Amino acid sequence: MPNLFYEVVNSRRTVRDFLPDPVPTEVLERCIDAACKAPSSSNLQPWEFVWIENSQKREVANHICLDQGPVKTAPVLLAVVTHWTHWKRNRNEILRVFESRGSVRTSTRKYYTRIIPLIYTNGPFNLLGFWKPWVGRILSLVRPMPSLQTKSDVRVMAHKSTALAAATLMLALRAEGFDSCPMEGFDPWRAKKLLNLGSQSEVCMFLAVGKRSAKGLWWERILMPRTWTFRKI
Ligand SMILES: Cc1cc2nc3c(=O)[nH]c(=O)nc-3n(C[C@H](O)[C@H](O)[C@H](O)COP(=O)(O)O)c2cc1C
Repeated sequence: MPNLFYEVVNSRRTVRDFLPDPVPTEVLERCIDAACKAPSSSNLQPWEFVWIENSQKREVANHICLDQGPVKTAPVLLAVVTHWTHWKRNRNEILRVFESRGSVRTSTRKYYTRIIPLIYTNGPFNLLGFWKPWVGRILSLVRPMPSLQTKSDVRVMAHKSTALAAATLMLALRAEGFDSCPMEGFDPWRAKKLLNLGSQSEVCMFLAVGKRSAKGLWWERILMPRTWTFRKI
């Protein structure tokens, strides 16, 4: 299908060697603005993009990324961070915006002030986190129940949304004529320290960004057969 969207999707590849050409700040900002339009659980947008611009920090970050090939040549390195305690701040912002637009529906207010805290909090010493899954599981025997999240479920939930934003960012970069390499091959403890992250935040992935060199693609794309990836019931 001759369509710009498919052109972008088909030409986005993981690039492991980059040209030295810089990535203009305005291009990066446009791509990050696009990434922030990715869908997120309850619209809570748990992500943050950190450009590791300082050359000393960049050297440390390269090492944290295990000195993989892509970080050695990429003009830009971004950390895609997920914060699973930002839900309260972001929930308040959503309610503030709704209010500034007129009024907040009762069901929306109830969702953000009662249901969301129930999903995201687990009480002191994670006490609720122990009971919540059992309550959910038992109720699910009699009626459909969303998962009452434990601490690790909340973490997964935040990473899911953040990864969608990262995917959108990679496609936006491609649409601008740039390339990227997502990396989860890195030291998570050192990454936290470099970025000064608290215990409720983590690097979801690093993204090396730039223009692909002639050695950028290591192989032709390999895809699983469609019968493994799509079915009807
Ligand atoms: C979450 C995630 C982590 C990845 N980590 C690495 C990595 O640490 N190093 C690397 O070279 N590629 C990494 N990749 C790139 C994958 O190997 C690549 O996406 C896959 O081989 C498919 O190739 P394509 O993106 O060119 O279609 C990662 C991709 C994803 C989505």
